[in-house]
Amino acid sequence: MCGITGYIGYKNADKVLFDCLKRLEYRGYDSCGIALVQSDGIKVIKDTCRVKELEAKHKKVNSKIGIGHTRWATCGEPTAANAHPHSSCGDKVAVVHNGTLDQFIPLKEDLISKGHVFKSETDTEIIPHLIEENMKTMSADDAVKKALGTIQGAFAVAAIVQNENKLYVGKVGCPLVIGVGDSECYVASDSSALSKYTNRFIYLKDHDTAVLTPDSIKLFRNGKETEPEIELLDKNLNDAELHGYPHFMLKEIHEEPRVITTTIDDIDDLTTLLAMVDKDLGGIRMIKTLACGSSYYASLMMRYLAPQILGIPTFAELGSEYCSLTKGQKGTLAIAISQSGETADTIKAAKAAKANGYKLMAITNVKNSQLARAADYVWTTKAGPEVSVAATKTVLSQIAALYSLILAHPSLSKLNKEDAMDTFRKLPDQINKIFENVDSIISVASYLADFKDAIYIARGLNYPIALEGALKLKEISYIHGEGYAAGELKHGPFALLGKEVPVIAIVSHDENYDSLVTNLREVKTRQAPLIAISEENDLTISNLADYVITVPHTKPILSPILNLVVVQLLAYYTAVKKGNPVDFPRNLAKTVTVE
Ligand code: AGP
Repeated sequence: MCGITGYIGYKNADKVLFDCLKRLEYRGYDSCGIALVQSDGIKVIKDTCRVKELEAKHKKVNSKIGIGHTRWATCGEPTAANAHPHSSCGDKVAVVHNGTLDQFIPLKEDLISKGHVFKSETDTEIIPHLIEENMKTMSADDAVKKALGTIQGAFAVAAIVQNENKLYVGKVGCPLVIGVGDSECYVASDSSALSKYTNRFIYLKDHDTAVLTPDSIKLFRNGKETEPEIELLDKNLNDAELHGYPHFMLKEIHEEPRVITTTIDDIDDLTTLLAMVDKDLGGIRMIKTLACGSSYYASLMMRYLAPQILGIPTFAELGSEYCSLTKGQKGTLAIAISQSGETADTIKAAKAAKANGYKLMAITNVKNSQLARAADYVWTTKAGPEVSVAATKTVLSQIAALYSLILAHPSLSKLNKEDAMDTFRKLPDQINKIFENVDSIISVASYLADFKDAIYIARGLNYPIALEGALKLKEISYIHGEGYAAGELKHGPFALLGKEVPVIAIVSHDENYDSLVTNLREVKTRQAPLIAISEENDLTISNLADYVITVPHTKPILSPILNLVVVQLLAYYTAVKKGNPVDFPRNLAKTVTVE
């Protein structure tokens, strides 16, 4: 998954492209490049560096048309030769691509047999050569359309052709949006990259292609020219500034009290939506959640909450492993959860569930995402744009939305609802209290930073938080964290325990407390350093653990929300201690648009 962009108009294209690429770097940042149409041909500049470094090396040129790319390598290692844009022989055509092409080798061999010389190991490079080959017998417009009709797989593509005052785009499976300006047009993988320039957008559908000039947009849908549908987007949706924080991750964690408050404020709207879903389904009788990564761990909360509180059987499915075996029966609801709404595995699973007769609800942070467009019902989490690759406030907003779904369910008594809402309303202040006592987390983090491995354990509702804590530690500190249900340790992982593997235990004062304390004693018998995340004034725990990070007291059923904030901060300060690039960790990208 990469970020692509393009510009055609009256501004200096290089300046616009570099600016948009910086806002797309969350999608991949192992190399980048731009290509510009100039009077003497197409100029390609690319390298294995961050966008701002390439911009610093670049000598400004006068061009009003260009394309740009920031890469997360899928086919061909992150080298300068494999970086995008890719061009045809003599740079007559240049292309940027997000996605992965299937069956491209036969096409490549055919082009080589026709004398085309390839400079990279990528799948993408066949596209400019295909266009150039087609141009031997047709116009550039037709050559591009034919090439985009020939390639297979997932792609969002932008292309420029020498001596053509045009920008060409097309997509299947990967997101692509056109930003409409006055006498100028923009394209990007994500509207947030363009919201500085315009709030008028055209979201391309699968198999759409378009030809852009400064003053016109020709959109082709299923081969026929179609009137573009322009959507207005709220301009101030894109707050990609650090506001004095050292990293976006810390800024976004500090937005979490507001995220909870927003979720509480929206509960009436969610109640209305859920009432409609419940009516349409004739009562929700079974729930299947579909998600990947941190969103999957958030979805696991529903597997505990819905059966326990609403008596609705609930199954949590991994998006990448989901194959829709069971037909959707009356009353079955699939809930697909994805902050970006663009995760290919989750979208594929959601479409499979829908094709199999499930009603599909999407819980996403991006209103205009592909997942939202595929769903029957959409709940937008309103956490605001998240820049840091490691998801934090969006995970919290998803979990808060799932709690709200429970609270919004018509079967829940008014009394229980009000009681739960009271406890919910206390959470923002309690999260701020955790921020005030962050020193204990910072000192445990500097201790944890020296280890290579760590194990997170918990029971019940906090088990998903142990999994998420381990993922966060892996993602940004590069320490191999593993999350386990505490009861599972003795069935194997115990073999890993010893002085070199600290155990981080999430303790909750619920029906699992005694069993968990037994597990902690078992851990101590193997001399493993024990770090406990527990409520204040718990002597049993402070006598057992080597380190205790305290959280304010709340109802056990809501403790996962406070413990989530702690494991996020623990991972953050451990990564900072290790001097890692917290917001842009190695080998990762924020949005995974390929399978
Ligand atoms: C989380 O920190 C990771 N960035 C990753 O696991 C992420 O949660 C996963 O890729 C799912 O993304 P989504 O919520 O946008 O679908």
